[in-house]
Amino acid sequence: LSWNIGRRAIQTASSSRIPNFAFAFDIDGVLLRASKPIPGAADSLALLKKQGIPFILLTNGGGKHETERVAEISEKLNVSLDASDIVQSHSPFAELVKGPDETSALEHKCVLVAGGDGDNCRRVAEQYGFKNVVTPGDIFMANPSIWPFSKNFSEYYKTFARPLPKPVDPTDPTKGLKIDAVFVFNDPRDWGLDAQVIMDLLLSRGGHVGTLSEKNGRSDLPNHGYQQDSQPHLYFSNPDLYWAAAYPLPRLGQGGFREALEGVWAATTGGPSKGIELKKTVIGKPCQGTYEFAERQLLRNRAKNFKGVSDLPPLEHVYMVGDNPESDILGANSYRSGNGSKWQSILVRTGVYPGGEPAWTPTTIADDVQKGVQWALQTSK
Ligand code: G3P
Ligand code: MG
Repeated sequence: LSWNIGRRAIQTASSSRIPNFAFAFDIDGVLLRASKPIPGAADSLALLKKQGIPFILLTNGGGKHETERVAEISEKLNVSLDASDIVQSHSPFAELVKGPDETSALEHKCVLVAGGDGDNCRRVAEQYGFKNVVTPGDIFMANPSIWPFSKNFSEYYKTFARPLPKPVDPTDPTKGLKIDAVFVFNDPRDWGLDAQVIMDLLLSRGGHVGTLSEKNGRSDLPNHGYQQDSQPHLYFSNPDLYWAAAYPLPRLGQGGFREALEGVWAATTGGPSKGIELKKTVIGKPCQGTYEFAERQLLRNRAKNFKGVSDLPPLEHVYMVGDNPESDILGANSYRSGNGSKWQSILVRTGVYPGGEPAWTPTTIADDVQKGVQWALQTSK
């Protein structure tokens, strides 16, 4: 049975002919490599569109707003997409603007957003609804001595830095600029400055820039003094230690920056060996929360695509096509859906995976995305 029943046919077809499966596509190393289309990617998406088979793009990438990213991908892969068709590493952070309740809402809190080119990520955060966003570049330009080695990049920071919403008050720093949460939206471009600013905040008194808590991080205090002082919560959007970029070998990703920061934290405070974990939230593939967010988006899109069809059949299978066993395969294999869908993983050879026995066993291995989609369409017949 070919699924070639197109969307119009679906509108009138009985719900029994609506596919009970969908796809989730990783981007880097599957659809694109160094922003260039991977052979077969455009045809695969065009086929699924034509056959009315839902899919979502699920990437640990980011650094620009979803609308901007899908516009680029639509153009490169000649497929019409909108912002609801993509989940980026930081997409779930939008839910923290209002939070689950008033007290946890970050909308009006002062948040530091690190990573990405210029202040693209600040602008993404503002488009999500964060109203008071500071970047490490702003803090550097307000006081370049905070990190002596970034002065070579001053011209770069000048192009986007903004005055701080509140000055750092050296006389009584507890009255000065206070950061309530720290986000790493995308790969930091200046690891040194970003790591220094984040460490300062983690060891500060309550997130006040320029202060040093007598308690936080002190392994000689009861409970190691950890978090005796409140401190800004640290959020990472992407665990990828490596990713597939233009260079033939995988490149360090945001997970590399986090590991470096964890190393500095451990050296500074004694770290986990002294019971002082770096408290943080890491989202992105393979985390359950990111897959839940993606599935919610996929189900909303599917309901929208098949609007008007009564008793839409449940989504039973989702085929995750990825190039990174650590994020795409592990994530799909371990995801437990609350909606009854079973996720199967298709590992492709066009990205991070170098061949051989992968660290996490996929449902199947395919040379590229097109072969992977063909396998899935055969399997779902
Ligand atoms: O920064 C992007 C990289 O971490 C991987 O992106 O699309 O392969 O999940 P993706
Ligand atoms: Mg990838």
